[in-house]
Amino acid sequence: MKPTYYITTPIFYVNGAPHIGHAYTTIACDVLARWKRLDGFDVFFLTGTDEHGQKVEKAAADAAVPPQEFTDRISTTFRDMGRRLGIASDDFIRTTEARHKRACAELWRRLEAAGHIYLGSYDGWYAVRDEAFYDEGELVTAADGRKLAPTGAPVEWVREPSYFFRLSAMQERLLAHYEANPDFIGPASRRNEVISFVRGGLRDLSVSRTSFRWGIPVPGDEAHVMYVWLDALANYITAAGFPDENAAKWRYWPADLHVVGKDILRFHAVYWPAFLLAAGIELPKRIYAHGWWTAGGEKMSKSIGNVMDPEDLVATYGLDPLRFFLLREVPFGNDGDFSRRALVARLNTELANDLGNLAQRSLSLIARNCEGRMPAAGARTEDDTAMLAAAEALPGLLRAHLDRQTFGEALEEVWRVIRAANSYIDRQAPWALRKTDPARMADVLRVLADLLRWVAAVLQPFMPDSMARLLDQLGVAPELRNLADLAAPVPAGTSLPAPAGIFPRHVEDAV
Ligand code: MSP
Repeated sequence: MKPTYYITTPIFYVNGAPHIGHAYTTIACDVLARWKRLDGFDVFFLTGTDEHGQKVEKAAADAAVPPQEFTDRISTTFRDMGRRLGIASDDFIRTTEARHKRACAELWRRLEAAGHIYLGSYDGWYAVRDEAFYDEGELVTAADGRKLAPTGAPVEWVREPSYFFRLSAMQERLLAHYEANPDFIGPASRRNEVISFVRGGLRDLSVSRTSFRWGIPVPGDEAHVMYVWLDALANYITAAGFPDENAAKWRYWPADLHVVGKDILRFHAVYWPAFLLAAGIELPKRIYAHGWWTAGGEKMSKSIGNVMDPEDLVATYGLDPLRFFLLREVPFGNDGDFSRRALVARLNTELANDLGNLAQRSLSLIARNCEGRMPAAGARTEDDTAMLAAAEALPGLLRAHLDRQTFGEALEEVWRVIRAANSYIDRQAPWALRKTDPARMADVLRVLADLLRWVAAVLQPFMPDSMARLLDQLGVAPELRNLADLAAPVPAGTSLPAPAGIFPRHVEDAV
């Protein structure tokens, strides 16, 4: 039986259209899901939409559309975004689905039965934009004197009956879990932030609201709806079949990785494990917080209105270059400013020049000088052996990087090999060998074809379409493209399709 691997994106609020920040999280998860499939895992990749709460209710009211109709509409735009970005998810969850309402009600009942929930009254600040409660001490004062959340979101004073979750009682258990599981939160700097937040003391968390209706009713007290974050976080167990722990899908729980943005790490690394500990459910294995894409230095967000449309970027630059750029340009845990110029530079230098030209030069020499057939492997020089060894080391190197979500470093390993191969081809000059030593020319071209096969194979998760085309041109059978198959070379004499460029250079329109 294959080992399982369960990976999730955050579920997206349906208060506006998807933007590049959402595309980023989703593409990163898609790369990991594809990588794990390639590496022989039984993968379950989940994404979806977060449809309850005051923020969504307000967006629906502003659009003068009933909330369910509104969420149906916007949820579809997220599903479509996935399709356009080549996202191969296994499930798309919506928190308004019956399966989710049932799972949430059961989670609530378990928390209550175990004594972790009590009725009280909430008196304090709430930011609808963040769907979060804040203490007075956390607030900042704006230039105009208004109080704001530390995220810059407006806050309102809330006073209403509320159920509370005994988060304060979980502090020691959480700290013990972080201590015993050093990889639970990544990157390390974020882990330290979470630990010091928890060490600073936890207050009980308000987990129900009575001042609006758009949520999942609290079992046994329908005047309350559940706090949207309790509802939303539970999506990860709903999709694995909870509360039916005999469901086939339950084999995926606990999740291997929740990928989230740094703004929602606290919910995932503090509240979520606390709910699970309290309910007696296993904890996810790892939570990784990536940084933000900014536009002109400001966080891109629907609420601010400075968003970059993924669809437009795909139309202009192509899907694979966009997927590549997002994971290559900025280390995954860091923030980065989105720039079209940087995207075009990566596309032209690393994709069109480094990789595209290497493939085109090697394949067209084979087409012209080897009758379009894969040459046989000949005697190998030290140079040949070193080149191939570097290529064959890639799966192991990438496995280590991708298990730590260091996408940029993973890609740098591949480009190190590609750059070395470009020097190799210049040094060996197979075009000159054609006249002087045709047998050696064939050997060199075979080394290049083998090297490209490893390179294209490990890049499949990042750029599925272009790498499928490259592997076609290299004569690699579609069923032999998993990491475990790479040791088997393409048989000598295999007839290859005519080479065709995979990454056209991009010339930016004059504006
Ligand atoms: N609904 C919650 C998540 C619930 S998960 C149980 C939510 N939704 S969101 O639509 O606002 O954001 C979803 C994800 O997109 C978050 O991880 C957030 O960090 C990410 N991004 C939103 N804007 C972003 C950027 N500008 N840059 C990078 N990612 C950002 O939060």
